[in-house]
This record gives sequence, C-alpha cells and structure tokens, in this order.
Amino acid sequence: MAAVTLKGIEKQYDNGFKAVHGIDLDIKEGEFMVFVGPSGCAKSTTLRMIAGLESISGGDLHIGGERMNDVPSKDRGIAMVFQDYALYPHMTVYDNMSFGLKVAKLPKDEIDQRVREAAEKLQITDLLDRKPAEMSGGQRQRVAVGRAIVRKPDVFLFDEPLSNLDAKLRVSMRVRITNLHKELKRAGQPATMIYVTHDQVESMTMGDRICVLNQGRIMQVDTPMNLYNFPANKFVAGFIGSPAMNLLKADLIQEGDSVMVQVGSDRFTLPQEKAQKVVSQVGKSIWFGVRPEYIGNAETHPECTANSFNSEVITLERMGFEENIYFEVDGQPCSARIPHEKAGESDVGNNYHFCIDMNKCHIFDMESELNISL
Ligand SMILES: Nc1ncnc2c1ncn2[C@@H]1O[C@H](COP(=O)(O)OP(=O)(O)OP(=O)(O)O)[C@@H](O)[C@H]1O
Ligand SMILES: [Mg+2]
Repeated sequence: MAAVTLKGIEKQYDNGFKAVHGIDLDIKEGEFMVFVGPSGCAKSTTLRMIAGLESISGGDLHIGGERMNDVPSKDRGIAMVFQDYALYPHMTVYDNMSFGLKVAKLPKDEIDQRVREAAEKLQITDLLDRKPAEMSGGQRQRVAVGRAIVRKPDVFLFDEPLSNLDAKLRVSMRVRITNLHKELKRAGQPATMIYVTHDQVESMTMGDRICVLNQGRIMQVDTPMNLYNFPANKFVAGFIGSPAMNLLKADLIQEGDSVMVQVGSDRFTLPQEKAQKVVSQVGKSIWFGVRPEYIGNAETHPECTANSFNSEVITLERMGFEENIYFEVDGQPCSARIPHEKAGESDVGNNYHFCIDMNKCHIFDMESELNISL
C-alpha cells in the first residue's frame, strides 16, 4: 500500500530537451490514476521516472512516504506492464511469471502458490506451459499483467498496455484490469495503479481520477465526470469527450440585460448564472464551447427555439441509436449528436434547424484559454 507523490518533478533529457516542466501530483494510496494526453506530452517519461527507469532532473518523488529519487527501480515496490509485453520468448508462461520471484530468492512453494493464484485470476492456468509465440496478443497481455501481480507490488505502472490489441480485446482487458484493482481492494490489499493511455475512452472508464497532460505540464486533474462537465481550459475541453466538444471563435455581446454569444450572424443567450460570470468580458472575442450532444433538433425541442439557428447538413453518420450531423456555423466546422428518433429530416443538403442547450455551454478566454464560465 503506497501513496505516490510528485513535487515539482522535472525532466531534461541529455540532449537538452525539457520534456517535463514541474509536475505536482498526489496519488492516493489505492487510487487508480490515469495519465492521458496526446503523443509526446511526456506520459511515458513521467511514468518511467516514477518507475526508476529514467533519472529525475528536478523535484521530489515519494512512494509510501519515502523519497525515491535515488532508489533503484527494484527497491521501489513497483511493477510495470509495458505496451510490448516484454516477455522472455524462450521461457514458458510459468517461467516468465516466476522469474522475478526466483531472482528475489523467494521459497519455491511460495513462488508456485503466487503464480497459480495470479494465473487463476487472469484465467491463464491452462497456458502455463506455453511459450509467448504460441499465444494470442490478448493472452500475452494477461501473462504480462500476471508477471506484475505475482510480485505483489504496492504500485502498478501501466504504459499503454492495451494498444497492441484489437478493439474488442481492448474492452475485455480494460474491464479485467479495473476488476483486478477492485478485487485487490476488496481483499484488503489495495494497490495504487498508474495507467498511461492516449485513448480518452480508456481514461474515462478506468480512472478514479485522470491527469490530463500536455507538453510536459498538467492541464487538469479530476474525476472523469468533473473533467467532462467542468473542463478548466480549452485543451481539456477539446481532449475529453468523443466526438470532441465544438470550439467556435465567437464574440461576447450585451443587449439590455442579456449577455449573448455571437457567432457570425447567430446569437445565443447565456443563462443568468453563466452571464454573471463572463459579463466583465463583454466586447471581447472568446472561444464558445458546446458538446455535440447539447446541440439538438429545434423542431423536437420547442422549448429552446430562442437559441436556434439554421445550417446545411454537410455530412451525416447514422450510428443506429444516434446520428452525428456535421455542418458549419459562420464557416467553422461543427457537429451535433442527436438520437435518431429525434433527428427528423437530417439528410445531407437539408437546411436543418438546430438548437443549443446554453446551460451546458462553456466560455474560454481567447488568450489564456481558461474556462471563465465555471
Ligand atoms: N531519450 C530521449 N531524449 C530526448 N528526448 C526524448 C527522449 N525520450 C523522449 N523524448 C521526448 O520527450 C517528449 C515526451 O516523450 P514521451 O515518450 O514521454 O511521450 P508520450 O506522452 O509517452 O508519447 P506517446 O503517446 O507517443 O507514447 C517527446 O517530445 C519525446 O520526443
Ligand atoms: Mg508513451
């Protein structure tokens, strides 16, 4: 059991490139923390510094209350699972899983018990005599996780462990890993897990909390739902959620008591509560953010005709339950996600009557890109 604390953590590589710019993060004991962000944002670098596979250029790393900056990887109480599994190809599954325990000179019975227990949990008992080349990607992935479990680490570190698997297998492995986290908690052996992914669906469904990174800096740390509903800035707003939030260049204007967002010739009125928060910015250009699911068909929402507009349907994706409708507002690309039964006449080329639920919109400062409507 161990909390992981990063204080002002920095990384400068030998070639002078600064990959991590001072990260502060408290990961609680037994927490499932996800690192998410675009390629190159330093997810792996940060994880590898926690693991002790990469030196720390500045700041302090504590695991279980102990400063770990200069402690060798093997003494940090961690186990890591990589994207490429890194199994020993000439060894059986049993030997792959038991190797680290043998090196650590655990008694033979204890090793056998731990390997069989982990194999049971991951349903790979009947594969124990196979070699990696004789298994599917998903089976190899389970062995890689099994090899981490047998060590009973305080902290599990995962670096995109599912990215080599096909979509269906990813879902089942995703569930397996979150269940493992829950099981360990129930069994009174909670493990802290840090899980790196660039897949925002994985991050939303797996994490107790998510740490969104961009260019070596933390953009926001919060629960999945809070990130979704209250993004602190434009980056998080655009990154979390699929399809992505619409972000339109717009102007804030005032008419009488109403504060409105003007996009081209269309005007949308902010609800009182949001208007109060942004009224000092009237007259300025802003980013107007609205998720596709909060743009609807005005014909089936008579209550929101005040904030409606017309636009030609450019592309239509019928997904079954819902439709993704692509169009433009003031020349800027925009999308709506509307349940099929409410979508009406959504064929390409139609002049469609959209409406926006302004209670759910966000206003971001044009320069700082911070959310000023929270
Ligand atoms: N050994 C190195 N020397 C110099 N720069 C490096 C080194 N390793 C990584 N970098 C740079 O550091 C930055 C962060 O890399 P990192 O691998 O941590 O990103 P990532 O978020 O894991 O990306 P991905 O999603 O592609 O795996 C990148 O700009 C990368 O080019
Ligand atoms: Mg990486």
